[in-house]
Amino acid sequence: MKVIQIEYSGPLHGTVRIPGAKNSSLALLAAACLADDIVTLEGIPDIEDVRTVSAICGDIGMELKREGDAVVLDPRWIHSAEIDSRKASSYRASYYFAGALLPKFGRVTIGFPGGDDFVSRPIDQHMKVLRALGARIEMHRDHYIVEAARLEGANIYFDMVTCGATINAMLAAVRANGRTQLYNAAVDPEVVDTAAFLNQLGAKIYGAGTSTIRIEGVPYLNGGRHTVIPDRLIAGSFLMAAGLHGGQVTVKDVIPEHLGSCNAKLEEVGLHVACGENDITAYGTGSLKATRIRTGMYPGFATDLQQPMTALLLQAPGKSIVTDRVFPKRYAHVPQLRRLGAEIELRRESAFVRGGLPLRGGWVHATDVRAGISLIMAGLAAEGITYVTGVEHIERGYEDVIGSYRSIGAKLSICELDAMDVQGRISR
Ligand code: EPU
Repeated sequence: MKVIQIEYSGPLHGTVRIPGAKNSSLALLAAACLADDIVTLEGIPDIEDVRTVSAICGDIGMELKREGDAVVLDPRWIHSAEIDSRKASSYRASYYFAGALLPKFGRVTIGFPGGDDFVSRPIDQHMKVLRALGARIEMHRDHYIVEAARLEGANIYFDMVTCGATINAMLAAVRANGRTQLYNAAVDPEVVDTAAFLNQLGAKIYGAGTSTIRIEGVPYLNGGRHTVIPDRLIAGSFLMAAGLHGGQVTVKDVIPEHLGSCNAKLEEVGLHVACGENDITAYGTGSLKATRIRTGMYPGFATDLQQPMTALLLQAPGKSIVTDRVFPKRYAHVPQLRRLGAEIELRRESAFVRGGLPLRGGWVHATDVRAGISLIMAGLAAEGITYVTGVEHIERGYEDVIGSYRSIGAKLSICELDAMDVQGRISR
């Protein structure tokens, strides 16, 4: 079993090149099914979730080859819209294949989405979108079937702001008959990126990045080339790492505007943040202030950054409060941080963090990508050695987590240990 071993590391210094965004890549790869010619996507990270998508593409007949950090997809040979249930359920964004295959095939069979478990992650808004455009949905034990002889444009009002369902609605509506209007749409960079890609292929999507999106259906989409946006969530967690013991970390190849709320919060807790055109540098001052965080949909403070930020706040003397309103149960990292000596109390949708206490190394388990990063950060600040299991979750989102943290001076390595031995230590 893979285990990440982390030693206390002093101030972190260095520059990290930020890869393409996981969440955008997963949408763009599925969106490529809608094209009628070859598509090249640049900057797609080589991570586990992308490998799962590649396997799905192979199953349905979409040719996919990697050329460096670009992926070339040929959707002309797709012969099936039956997605293997096990593969669909091994990550979250498989639902994009429902929206992307339905317009061409009229019937999609697909497993329920899996991925990070935040206790409750409904997909009712995805279903609502597909039904509004004229689809029938049949639910089975481990899969669902979406069917529509023809998709008709519609006015859709989302019950809440959702990035995933907004993207899925654009995918399903782009080749529908007539006009679709999305109200209360998400304004996340991933939504804008997907719309930019589809428009590049000949789609007519207007207003992405605002709460109202208009889509005029088109009969076909061309091939084309597009570069995925940089991963703002990876960038944010590296900037936070500068706050541990007063380091200095530069993230390059980023879009600074995407990190506005993260940078503002870092300034609030005592870091200094300087933005260039495509890079951001965070300077730790060695002293951190406790704060209050409430996550929100973009441009609010991202739920994905709440977990690494909690690890940073363990170093800020005083009481911080972290409230996650997007995923109110996204606190699986908290019991693990407690194993390292953290004092965090969970009440309803908030974590009350008593910062400034010493942490000590121990065995902890990562349950999802961002929880894993939170544990790595805590391990870098803990006396002694911290061992993190659940490495496969971290690898779902990071290409080279060890190499990138090492490049800024973090002392960590990965090793293979006997699974039984590890289980014994984790369950203690
Ligand atoms: N929601 C519903 N019904 C739906 C869809 C969403 O109630 O049908 C709710 C969710 O429960 C949540 C809110 O709407 O309270 C926003 O959820 P959203 O749809 O935006 O999330 P998602 O598409 O499931 C994506 C990312 C997550 C990220 C959220 C932030 C992917 C694959 N995942 O999830 O990323 O936290 O947006 O909005 O794009 C990660 O990368 O670690 C990760 C978990």
